[in-house]
Amino acid sequence: MIEANLSADELAALQLERLQWTLRHAYANVPAYTRKFDEAGVHPDDCKELADLAKFPFTTKQDLRENYPFGMFAVPQDQVRRIHASSGTTGKATVVGYTEQDIDTWATVMARSIHAAGGRPGHKVHVAYGYGLFTGGLGAHYGAEKLGCTVIPASGGMTARQVQLITDFRPEIIMVTPSYMLTLLDEFERQGVDPRASSLQVGIFGAEPWTEQMRAEIEERFALDAVDIYGLSEVMGPGVAQECVETKDGLHIWEDHFYPEVIDPYSEDVLGGGETGELVFTSLTKQALPIIRYRTRDLTELNPGTARPAFRRMAKVTGRTDDLIILRGVNVFPTQIEEIVLRTAGLSPHFQLVRSTRGRLDHLTVRVEARHDASSASREHAAASLLSGVKDGVGVTVSVEVVDPDTLERSMGKMRRIVDQREKP
Ligand code: DLL
Repeated sequence: MIEANLSADELAALQLERLQWTLRHAYANVPAYTRKFDEAGVHPDDCKELADLAKFPFTTKQDLRENYPFGMFAVPQDQVRRIHASSGTTGKATVVGYTEQDIDTWATVMARSIHAAGGRPGHKVHVAYGYGLFTGGLGAHYGAEKLGCTVIPASGGMTARQVQLITDFRPEIIMVTPSYMLTLLDEFERQGVDPRASSLQVGIFGAEPWTEQMRAEIEERFALDAVDIYGLSEVMGPGVAQECVETKDGLHIWEDHFYPEVIDPYSEDVLGGGETGELVFTSLTKQALPIIRYRTRDLTELNPGTARPAFRRMAKVTGRTDDLIILRGVNVFPTQIEEIVLRTAGLSPHFQLVRSTRGRLDHLTVRVEARHDASSASREHAAASLLSGVKDGVGVTVSVEVVDPDTLERSMGKMRRIVDQREKP
């Protein structure tokens, strides 16, 4: 069963039962959890209601690194059917594992996500998320097959060929990072193929933050519905939460498998609905890698469900605590700059944030490409309005460099927005 039609009470009862199982499973089979629970003075039997989860310790990326590669696995190796890994920017990769049942659960939540996005059996799904240790490609692939779609496993890269495949095979759906979708857009235009005339009806975009302004840009340029998909390797991969095409109002979390909390990242207190903080997940059904109160570092808020009333909805992720730039005391996220760039006439969605040192202070330069049709006068005007837009909207002074079209590096998967040229102390 792909959809889960549960009442609020049925969901809460199912979550409690599954949470109690997960806590017992982790405590009994993963020495790192045994130690952490013992040190915190808690035992799985202390979980009598869902709110009791708050008594249990958090898990961080550091815990996974310290137990590299397989120390957090809760089943014998011969039951692990698949390994994925995410290569962080520093240190060792984070390794995750799946049993046969985990892979089936993942395919189910992914199928549910594609369905919520408007996908139906018989649709052709072009998967341009990378295949390999990254969870994007294979996660999307198994979910689309489970829903009864025809999968085109394009993976990332070879951009010219992607456009050809889309033109020839006529998929209704594309699954790709929003930044690589922009790279594909360039290629459509380079080949003289009208993107609006393509067969694509729905784009399922995730793996990196993107804004409402970016949604409007992609929907307009491709004439499709753009919806958000969220997930992370430690919790499963893509398909933890999905935006529904009929409402496009944030992402319903598939709470029968993943239990969300939002905490204040400093005090670590659990916050109420509608309050912004760090998203924390506990898996409810995972066998190979049960994960308890995993700190995602992603910032969002939880609200009641709409199109899927049983499930809470997370707001679009505004950023990761890792991507936060603190400039003379003011917090700046790349998504805030993206919003302003995209509403400034004459500027394309291609931009980088260059951090540097001026005197002894940190400085930020927004380097952004002009649109193809922007005259030099309108470029100057765009630079001035971006500068004042950032000053008024974010409260910091930045430099702006408007550069020629097609000069900034293009994304092939997850975009790196920040270029760090600061002097090391
Ligand atoms: O990015 C899984 C994924 C693949 C999700 C394809 C969606 C589509 P990781 O490589 O482990 O897994 O990176 C997880 O990416 O903690 C967020 O910071 C970010 N992220 C993922 N989806 C979104 C999204 C995959 N929709 C990390 N909006 C997460 C914003 C996202 N950030």
